[in-house]
Amino acid sequence: MEKPFILHLFTPEARVSPFDVNMAVDAGYQVLMPYTGVELPMVVGLTHDAIFSRGPKGVSRTGLFIGGRDVLLAADMLEAAQKAMVPPFVVSVCADPSGAYTTAAAMVASVQHHLRRRHERSLAGLRVLVLGGTGAVGRIAAVLAAREGATVTLSSHTGQAHASQAARATGSRFNVSLQACSGQHPEDVLSALQQCDVVLATAAAGVRVLSLTQLQQAPSVLIAADLNAVPPSGIEGLGPLDDGVALGGGQAAGIGALAIGNVKYQVQQQLLRRMREASTPQCLSFEDAHRVASQHLGLVAA
Ligand SMILES: NC(=O)c1ccc[n+]([C@@H]2O[C@H](COP(=O)([O-])OP(=O)(O)OC[C@H]3O[C@@H](n4cnc5c(N)ncnc54)[C@H](OP(=O)(O)O)[C@@H]3O)[C@@H](O)[C@H]2O)c1
Repeated sequence: MEKPFILHLFTPEARVSPFDVNMAVDAGYQVLMPYTGVELPMVVGLTHDAIFSRGPKGVSRTGLFIGGRDVLLAADMLEAAQKAMVPPFVVSVCADPSGAYTTAAAMVASVQHHLRRRHERSLAGLRVLVLGGTGAVGRIAAVLAAREGATVTLSSHTGQAHASQAARATGSRFNVSLQACSGQHPEDVLSALQQCDVVLATAAAGVRVLSLTQLQQAPSVLIAADLNAVPPSGIEGLGPLDDGVALGGGQAAGIGALAIGNVKYQVQQQLLRRMREASTPQCLSFEDAHRVASQHLGLVAA
């Protein structure tokens, strides 16, 4: 009898995400085991327990998935799991805390796709404003955009101090430079918007962070992308399925939450399938997710 495909899900939280469970089963994993309350020092022991028990054939049918809410801690846990492998006992491992790695990858690749299609531009040299930028998705979208050569500013609705703290911690963890601004008052948001080329709305579900009036007063904006699928939309006037529609009467094109969600779904499925099907063990993070999203959207060759 063939050994079943087993996925061990590690999370620092009290429970794993049902979303991740569904995605893993749909990608062909047959046995899923959640480990909750996992702290960073526990990752080495758990990884050893997972890799040594099934022999060389079982190794290729065993995977680790790192979830949780903290996108910086998940990167540390991924690194710890990878370092704990003992060749030839190496299993595939993927991190996607809160879905943020695949969602941020889908968002940034969708922006790049429409920048190219509509404006014949890349992210290099552009100014990107991330509203809700202290959150899980916002931080990783910021890192990906910065690595593509953009100047990225994180905004917080609680003010400059929180934004600065998030920009410093995220920038230093992933070795990029991130700016920060206050998004506490509508005039703060407008002032930041008027100095950007791309705006990413990554605030919590059900929160509107940008009005059409603000957008109409910011003629430099080329792309406005939104992740919030829970009404009202994060950006006024933008529907969830809009994918590159004209927005605000100027040169801006809008990308809605479900348009990005469709790309995210494909990306997460492909990463999970690759863990099961690749001939060598995979270690997958948000850079891999961004590569897959870019291939999916035809930005780079598959
Ligand atoms: N389409 C998809 O496939 C997909 C997948 C995952 C997530 N999402 C969506 O992506 C968005 C971001 O997810 P996430 O997990 O990163 O969210 P999150 O961490 O829950 O929230 C992001 C940020 O929103 C800001 N925020 C909270 N309440 C606010 C308010 N009342 N007004 C303005 N800002 C507020 C907070 O930053 P400050 O307090 O610093 O302002 C927070 O850090 C959510 O809308 C989520 O539903 C979409």
